[in-house]
Amino acid sequence: MNDKLTVKIDKIVSGGYGFTIHNENAVFIPFVLPGETVEVEIYRRRGVYFGKILEILESSPIRKEAFCPLFGNCGGCQFQMTDYENQLQIKKEIIEESLRRIGKIEIPVNPIIASDNTIHYRNKGSFQVFGREESFIGFCYPGTTKPFAIQECPLMEHPINEKIRDFLDNPSERLKLKGMKALVIRSNGEGQTINSTIKKDSFFDRVADLDFMIDADTFFQINRTIIPKWLEYIKKLIVSHKVGKGLLDLYSGVGIIGQFLSPLFEKVVGLEVNKRLVENGNKVLERNHIQNASFIAADASRFYEYGFLYDTVIINPPRAGISPEMTATLIQAAPQVIIYSSCNPDTFSRDIKELGNGGYKIDEIQPFDMFPQTQHTEVVGVLYR
Ligand SMILES: C[S@@+](CC[C@H](N)C(=O)[O-])C[C@H]1O[C@@H](n2cnc3c(N)ncnc32)[C@H](O)[C@@H]1O
Repeated sequence: MNDKLTVKIDKIVSGGYGFTIHNENAVFIPFVLPGETVEVEIYRRRGVYFGKILEILESSPIRKEAFCPLFGNCGGCQFQMTDYENQLQIKKEIIEESLRRIGKIEIPVNPIIASDNTIHYRNKGSFQVFGREESFIGFCYPGTTKPFAIQECPLMEHPINEKIRDFLDNPSERLKLKGMKALVIRSNGEGQTINSTIKKDSFFDRVADLDFMIDADTFFQINRTIIPKWLEYIKKLIVSHKVGKGLLDLYSGVGIIGQFLSPLFEKVVGLEVNKRLVENGNKVLERNHIQNASFIAADASRFYEYGFLYDTVIINPPRAGISPEMTATLIQAAPQVIIYSSCNPDTFSRDIKELGNGGYKIDEIQPFDMFPQTQHTEVVGVLYR
């Protein structure tokens, strides 16, 4: 393949890449919009062809100036070059494409439920720390381990940016970064922050009228403005499917889903592999006046060992989705309802296809924009027998 090419972008696919076929090879180009014609430099990484934009020859009418000066150099955002409404439409098309290509299914995808905050929405930032004499805070150039320094990130909640400035401006704070390679800063709804320079530091955060105990560097949903909408939607699914005996909350984290849904069930059991998340989940049950839920440190795929009467399983796995063994075990266990919430439409499409082969039906997909300006979306579907 030649080094330089002029290509027209057919569509945007998973990863937020523009997609085109050249000489029977798929080429993936970041930071472009559908219909644009661009001159790109082609390179190959791990067997896949990518294009780096040299010039936009024909730009989309929906293209605008990105608001962050680092956009394009930083791998965090993919879609700042277009208005939020266009981002939602592009992301919907990415999900539909994944469902068709990987899931081999045509299911209606509802319009994406938008985030109230489209900037300053992240309650957690993970940064690189680098520098010999003096420590800097930053991100890595996309696809590399080469860091660049930042002063702030427009996606972070304000207290996180204030803490970055504190680290950079205050010599005694900067000293705390010495010897560190990574830094996590987290903020809560009260404007407090914790960070990973202090081991096992945690605080409470109140979301959807429940308190959660959260560590600096363990998992918690990152966009507080959309979490209540996501949970209310899952609640609506439970009510419409008339279940309520028992809920198995798999990949439960601190139990945000199980705790929120506990009034609808006789019993809730959550399985989560990270012991710290399980401890934090169980610690707040009394504070949240929940008596019918418990969280267990266990591999989700061993759910059949924790037998109790349940009619509903919720799965909210990491980006890799669920294993073939897990899919087979779920089909064998045959719960009446499986609610699947995923931050990766590709693995979601693969897994719902397999669950469909096992006898489960799915009527529609509801996406939630938990991650504005980026290519990521949360998708929810209910599978039932
Ligand atoms: C996307 S998070 C969802 C957490 C939770 N449902 C929430 O909304 O906060 C996925 C969780 O799965 C956990 N996890 C990963 N592999 C697991 C496994 N094999 N068994 C149980 N939990 C696992 C991770 O530690 C993480 O907390």
